[in-house]
Amino acid sequence: MKKEKILEVNNLSISFKTPNGLVRAVRDISFDLYKGETLAIVGESGSGKSVTNRAIMGILAGNGNIDTGEILYRNQDLAKLSEENFHKIRGSKVGMIFQDPLSSLNPTMRVGKQITEAMLVGGHRFKNRFRDLYHNEFHDYLNLETRIKLLKKDRDVRVFEISRNEELSKEEKKAKTKQVKAKTHDKIVELKKDLPELKAKYLEAKKAAKIQIKKEIAEVKAEEKESFAKLREDLAKKKEALSKLDASSPSYEDTLKAYKDSKEKLSNHKEVYKRRFKVTKKEAYERAITIMREVGIPEPEKRFTQYPFQFSGGMRQRIVIAIALTAGPELLICDEPTTALDVTIQQQILDLIKKIKKERGLSVIFITHDLGVVANMADRVAVMYAGKIVEYGSASDIFYDPRHPYTWALLASVPDLDTKEKLLSIPGTPPDMLYPPKGDAFADRNKFALKIDFEEQPPFFKVSDTHYAATWLLHPQAPKIEMPKIITDRIVKYKADAKERASESKTNKVTSAGEENWAKKEKKF
Ligand SMILES: Nc1ncnc2c1ncn2[C@@H]1O[C@H](COP(=O)(O)OP(=O)(O)OP(=O)(O)O)[C@@H](O)[C@H]1O
Ligand SMILES: [Mg+2]
Repeated sequence: MKKEKILEVNNLSISFKTPNGLVRAVRDISFDLYKGETLAIVGESGSGKSVTNRAIMGILAGNGNIDTGEILYRNQDLAKLSEENFHKIRGSKVGMIFQDPLSSLNPTMRVGKQITEAMLVGGHRFKNRFRDLYHNEFHDYLNLETRIKLLKKDRDVRVFEISRNEELSKEEKKAKTKQVKAKTHDKIVELKKDLPELKAKYLEAKKAAKIQIKKEIAEVKAEEKESFAKLREDLAKKKEALSKLDASSPSYEDTLKAYKDSKEKLSNHKEVYKRRFKVTKKEAYERAITIMREVGIPEPEKRFTQYPFQFSGGMRQRIVIAIALTAGPELLICDEPTTALDVTIQQQILDLIKKIKKERGLSVIFITHDLGVVANMADRVAVMYAGKIVEYGSASDIFYDPRHPYTWALLASVPDLDTKEKLLSIPGTPPDMLYPPKGDAFADRNKFALKIDFEEQPPFFKVSDTHYAATWLLHPQAPKIEMPKIITDRIVKYKADAKERASESKTNKVTSAGEENWAKKEKKF
């Protein structure tokens, strides 16, 4: 069966204007993504992973620019779409989850409401779009306000602790309390200075958003008016044709069927129209509860009315995933979604992403700096360094037959699965992207670098039909270099682990069947 291509990025370059000059964050990268596939983008901090994916989402920072290239989403170039059309795709087809679930949730709103609000059907669709339009300004304001609130909370906790401290005398308590209060007060005064300006900016953005949304709603209505007119006209024609025939006529059956079809089309479209604007609260609630259950939140009815701070980090990330799923995306971009979580929780979130990917047939782009995280999850891997893809291939190409010295370094720096210790950190630092190096950007840190690495950028060399790497070491005239032993050892281990997993998954089938039974029981109650 031919695989369906969802996304194709061609020769994408992105730069940022800064006071010091242009930061060349992404330099001529290309990759594609098929339906139901997980592509991992792996690389150190600053390699351009987030910037690439923010460009796909259309949320580059204001000083960023797509200099060259195209981002084809089902053959439509997102890099050239108008903001409005872009939103139609981004809002409903592509979902994104970030490293820090707190920053994507509104701390002052109950999680249930955040999920139902995110539903794009009906009026919520425009509500959501409306919020999106002034999201950045709102968050700047809200963040500052939240920081002030947290400072006050922190002050109260400390004052309380002082009052309970039995080692302090009454006078000491008084003095300490005064000190804590004064310190917080000064900080708050300092922070509050910026508050009016941020608030004004947010209100201004909100006002502009309102005007924009009104315009968009009017456009949808005009568009729909036209569709309805066509459908009604068609129905009238069919009706007339039918009225000219009597039941014994040979073409009566067909004409009747055409009339019924046309009638059904009209009534279906009424439903579609309604859903572009409206969804009942009850519908939204029920969908939210279903999605919360899908992402593994126990007692969703109870959790629905709680605030983000009442959730653990892992549970918060589940909420963020739920929100991303409400619009029914077909592509989910996960930007280091587990980095802020501890190891056991990390694994649960990875398993959850795998599960929803499988059940919903999603395509996933999974961004991480830790190759180990994606060993058990990616179908294909693209390794990024200094704004370029330096190697890409199937997961087994990258894990069992890595060719670029940077990929070797990344593999060597994966924390050991048993000891959780890093075997080898990569010496040196990535280049300054204000001045990208002439040759292979990794040359400076690469102990296998050849002279040409410092002079000329290596092209992609083909290793196999699925596997390419941009390193001069693959040139036919390059000296043969053995992979470091540490890497060959790792490969042996990865292979053994994969074998173990394969035999484990056989036993796991039994457990998941058990879980299913449990879920069925739960439904009954
Ligand atoms: N708004 C901006 N202005 C200037 N430079 C930026 C901006 N956003 C990103 N960059 C630069 O672009 C480069 C790539 O950043 P990016 O956030 O994509 O890295 P990353 O691979 O996601 O790293 P991390 O693992 O730290 O998230 C970095 O050099 C970064 O400093
Ligand atoms: Mg990033």
